[in-house]
Amino acid sequence: MCQLRLNTQHNYLTKVVCDGRLVYDKNIVLGENSRVLDSGTGTGIWATELANEVPDSVKIYASDVSNSEFPPTHPPNVHFSLASVTSLPREWSNKFDFVNQRFLFGALLVEEWPVALSEMYRVLKPGGAIQLIEMEPRFPVPETPKTSQIMKVTKEATDGLGLHIYVAENLAELTKGAGFVDIVDETKRLPLGKSWGEIGLQGAVAIGGAYRNTGALLVKNGICSSREAHDRLVDDVLKEWDEYGTHFPCKLVCARKPV
Ligand SMILES: C[S@@+](CC[C@H](N)C(=O)[O-])C[C@H]1O[C@@H](n2cnc3c(N)ncnc32)[C@H](O)[C@@H]1O
Repeated sequence: MCQLRLNTQHNYLTKVVCDGRLVYDKNIVLGENSRVLDSGTGTGIWATELANEVPDSVKIYASDVSNSEFPPTHPPNVHFSLASVTSLPREWSNKFDFVNQRFLFGALLVEEWPVALSEMYRVLKPGGAIQLIEMEPRFPVPETPKTSQIMKVTKEATDGLGLHIYVAENLAELTKGAGFVDIVDETKRLPLGKSWGEIGLQGAVAIGGAYRNTGALLVKNGICSSREAHDRLVDDVLKEWDEYGTHFPCKLVCARKPV
């Protein structure tokens, strides 16, 4: 189910954030023998789809702290490995032409973000580029009661863990702080619910599913009384999205390591 949700989320984000492209910046050409990293890859779907678009000689590395979502089969030029975005292998220094990192806003601690950015910088070749995509899980339009409530309880739980779920706002600044240049900072829109048609339904599966997955944490921390109560809240949130055609902001940051 998690694989299905993550792969639905991939199709959705590719469409609504990257205008249907895996690599948003049209100036980036991944030619023969290029090296690409998908950091925090999840199911590896971005990496495996990229393999179909680039020459076979392009080596695509897909890394994550967990291999639980790695696919059973994949193209031969995609290499899966275990690595944290905060401590990529030493031998990867100056290795990659392009690094993609997407949707780790619920995964990294406040103090881990600058480390992750400096690791991406280290493993890029001079002139190499990054693509970062992170949802801003606040400022929904319109802001409706149940959506406000789920944002509030989720923030309370993630604050308790020291996670930086509002990192999207600081993404360009963090990128600059790590030494990147030519920073392009765009705000895209995540449409949610059936009034947006098929894409809004995909968004509800992806983002609503992510909220549903936080249920156990919220109950454990005493923020929600039970899984059933949390599930009911998520159901009400999904109804609001269907009714009001809600959308959330999402940041897309592209940048380069200086030559
Ligand atoms: C929401 S999923 C996104 C997966 C993928 N980037 C995508 O967009 O489909 C977050 C992923 O980050 C991974 N993750 C969490 N902390 C990490 C870390 N410190 N280093 C690498 N991956 C991490 C999780 O295991 C999970 O696969």
